[in-house]
Amino acid sequence: MQKIVVFTGAGVSAESGIKTFRDHDGLWENHKISEVATPDAWRHNPKLVLDFYNERRKQLLSAKPNQAHKLIAQLQGKYDVHVITQNIDDLHEKAGSKKVIHLHGELMKCRSTLNPNLIYTLKSWKLNIGDKCELGSQLRPHVVWFGEAVPNMEIAYEVASKADVFIVVGSSLTVYPAAGLVNFVSNNSKKYLIDPSDINIQDVENLIIYKEKASSGMEKLASELL
Ligand code: OAD
Repeated sequence: MQKIVVFTGAGVSAESGIKTFRDHDGLWENHKISEVATPDAWRHNPKLVLDFYNERRKQLLSAKPNQAHKLIAQLQGKYDVHVITQNIDDLHEKAGSKKVIHLHGELMKCRSTLNPNLIYTLKSWKLNIGDKCELGSQLRPHVVWFGEAVPNMEIAYEVASKADVFIVVGSSLTVYPAAGLVNFVSNNSKKYLIDPSDINIQDVENLIIYKEKASSGMEKLASELL
């Protein structure tokens, strides 16, 4: 079975009503990234950080997978499909994708601030100051903040290096190390990029670009691949 690796960014979820990052002046819902998504922010104002992610979680609970998420899942009927996503939403899983690697964490999970291996699935959108892990330490969002390591990067490199077909959907390819994943794909593999903007991607062989939204781009690509 041929292996398809789909690498997604915020753009794949845009048609589900979840805002992208850089389409909005670099501000995240009127916050500077440094105020809500860094270890420093957590140290100085944990309540603001929790409130920010609570709001994201609340929005996610009413979001549904769009046609792009669904078509990516449908590729599993014919291919060994691995999704590597920069997104913290769970819309790939909701669409039925079975193998999903989250590079930047998962919004619906939280973890211990004492032992990062203690990870819990949240039952509601709210994580509060005073919510503790079994060791008695405050729980934090299970997301990768700026300045933190990306624990799933190694496995992502390995998966990407074995792709027969590599598809990028809806990413500005500006945040490293995730954006460098495409450079681990074999020169012989077919590569596709679906994004309505002009993406700065150079020195990548065998690349076909669909300058479109995720759903219409995936429709064209799925009819070619299925
Ligand atoms: P960006 O906000 O940087 O880029 C979103 C991309 O989606 C842009 O290239 C848009 O052109 C494209 N886009 C917008 N609407 C679209 C649609 N309907 N269909 C397809 N594409 C569309 O988001 P990412 O590249 O995902 O990191 O950002 C990468 C990382 O930066 C995020 O994971 C996050 C952020 O800082 C962390 O939180 C660590």
